Amino acid sequence: MTATSRGAFIVIEGLDRSGKSTQAAILQSRLQGPEQSTTKAVLIKFPDRTTTIGKMIDAYLRSQSEFDDHAIHLLFSANRWELASTIYAHLAAGTTVIADRYAFSGIAFSARKGLSYDWCRAPDIGLPAPDLTLFLNVEPGVARTRGGYGEERYETEDVQRSVRVVFERIGEEMKTDGQGQWVEIDASREKDLVARNIWRVVEPLSRGVASSLRKLWE
Ligand code: TYD
Ligand code: MG
Repeated sequence: MTATSRGAFIVIEGLDRSGKSTQAAILQSRLQGPEQSTTKAVLIKFPDRTTTIGKMIDAYLRSQSEFDDHAIHLLFSANRWELASTIYAHLAAGTTVIADRYAFSGIAFSARKGLSYDWCRAPDIGLPAPDLTLFLNVEPGVARTRGGYGEERYETEDVQRSVRVVFERIGEEMKTDGQGQWVEIDASREKDLVARNIWRVVEPLSRGVASSLRKLWE
């Protein structure tokens, strides 16, 4: 890391059972390297179910409470905003931040319900923008065979299929409007191969980023 550089902000996105959490953990240990004494990479996860807002989201996902579709969408977004200052602080300290899901999941899971795409995007405008988003692409039928979906809301093949359609739209837009890199990774492949393909894209960012951090969709 040079004197003027900051940590990189890397987002991992994808459907449920696409291997996001597994790959995020592999990536973190790779970035962290053998010296555990200094923090080189932190892993954050959205939703962060530990905060007050996160607990409301958790109850909703476990079908223990109901919300209007707009209201739960805004809670998912607020859950990102409450972590924004933490993200900034890590990056400024030269620490790489890996986020397991981010605003793109927010849009994809809500827009599939019929909420307007632009309305879904609006509350996340201005969040720290990722330097790189890795979209772990897997066919929902393949994801289902990986030990099956869980019991939570959204964990059905039908929902995942419609979410994937929105993710594809987001990917197209990210590629054309200069919003940092959006890279699709074939997540149907074997775990170690996926990890190698991810590392190939992340490695150039692993020693820090010289450009200043941007704001999402601003
Ligand atoms: P997930 O990452 O799958 O949590 P876990 O690993 O504990 O299963 O997230 C839970 C669900 O929340 C997932 O189905 C996607 C959904 N989600 C939204 O609907 N909006 C959002 O903004 C985010 C971050 C996730
Ligand atoms: Mg899940």
